[in-house]
Amino acid sequence: MATMADVARSAGVSVATVSHVLNGTRPVLPHTRQAVLDAIDELGYTPNTLARSLVTSRTRSIGLAVSAISNPYFTEILQGVEASALERGYGLLIADPHDDPRHERKAVQLLHERRVDGMIVAPSADPSDLLAYLGRHDVPAVFLDRLVDASADRAPRYDQVCAENAAPTAGLVTHLAGLGHRRIALVAGLPGLSTTGERISGYRSGLAAAGLPHDERLVAHGDSEAAGAERATAALLALADPPTALVTANNAMTIGALRALRDRGLSVPGDIALCCFDDFAWADLFTPRLTAVAQPSRALGAEAVRLLLDRLATPDRPTRTVRLPCAFVHRTSCGCPGDGAQPSSSQPAPPQPPPSQPDPSQPPPSQPAPSQPSPPQLRKGTAS
Ligand code: HPA
Repeated sequence: MATMADVARSAGVSVATVSHVLNGTRPVLPHTRQAVLDAIDELGYTPNTLARSLVTSRTRSIGLAVSAISNPYFTEILQGVEASALERGYGLLIADPHDDPRHERKAVQLLHERRVDGMIVAPSADPSDLLAYLGRHDVPAVFLDRLVDASADRAPRYDQVCAENAAPTAGLVTHLAGLGHRRIALVAGLPGLSTTGERISGYRSGLAAAGLPHDERLVAHGDSEAAGAERATAALLALADPPTALVTANNAMTIGALRALRDRGLSVPGDIALCCFDDFAWADLFTPRLTAVAQPSRALGAEAVRLLLDRLATPDRPTRTVRLPCAFVHRTSCGCPGDGAQPSSSQPAPPQPPPSQPDPSQPPPSQPAPSQPSPPQLRKGTAS
């Protein structure tokens, strides 16, 4: 197997120069650099990153711990992390803590034992063990998607990145209210996650902005998964005064809600309107096409890498929490006509304060409500 010394001899340079080319530790003249790269290519030299790590104490690897990697939202985040890490010369080690705090702690320990330079973690609903571990071992980390209360016990402050949650959810509610709906339900996610809390508070502010009362029975917890959402939707539909419109708080829960509606022979939007948080690749193949809020998943992943590498380069700089905007994708499950209801990056304006410029993370104003807005009635129909 070719060694660094072989490369140096073949390129007519010192071993130190080869090392500078490989590690980017010092500028090297372009023609010298090219001679080294040609020699590497010709000899089939493969750097021994383990040996390099022993010298530098850096592995140029990042750990990523996100639950539900099979969920398209998290898969796209992973793609964003991977592409961005690779671009900066970092490799990736991945773990899925399955939203289980004990599993999460083990996953993070495993990544740490592999000596990743830092981690990107989407924390579970109870991150206390995670925080204790990261703090005790002084692991550089960025929290993604779910924010951790910076003032929590033992929580050193961390950089964090997530999507806007409250305003886009409020926008879905005001959009439905503008179509005449008065009983709008939320199929909410797993309690304890910041995303769940923020989407519930967005739901409430959307109701308030539309002048609708808040009926606690219209918030059903769907545990962030399809099966839980199916049960939650069934419970909503069994109410004496059931909702005429649903907002689902993530993509998996949209699937569960649609199953519950189909099993009861209810059509969307004829019997019940539907707006979803989370867009996904085949949301426009459903009949009707799903009106949704699209999260900037790849950009979230890329931003997390940027924050982490900035932290590694400047450990003492102040921490940052970055929020990225979502996009309202206006289709037809809300009850708006199909014509012209193309996916749009313009979003509905957040309920408060009214934006002077259209906010791309918010649904646009609803189509004009019926001239005599009679509240839509839930009725049985043909499932679509
Ligand atoms: N957070 C945010 N969006 C999501 C999630 C989540 O855990 N799951 C599916 N979409």
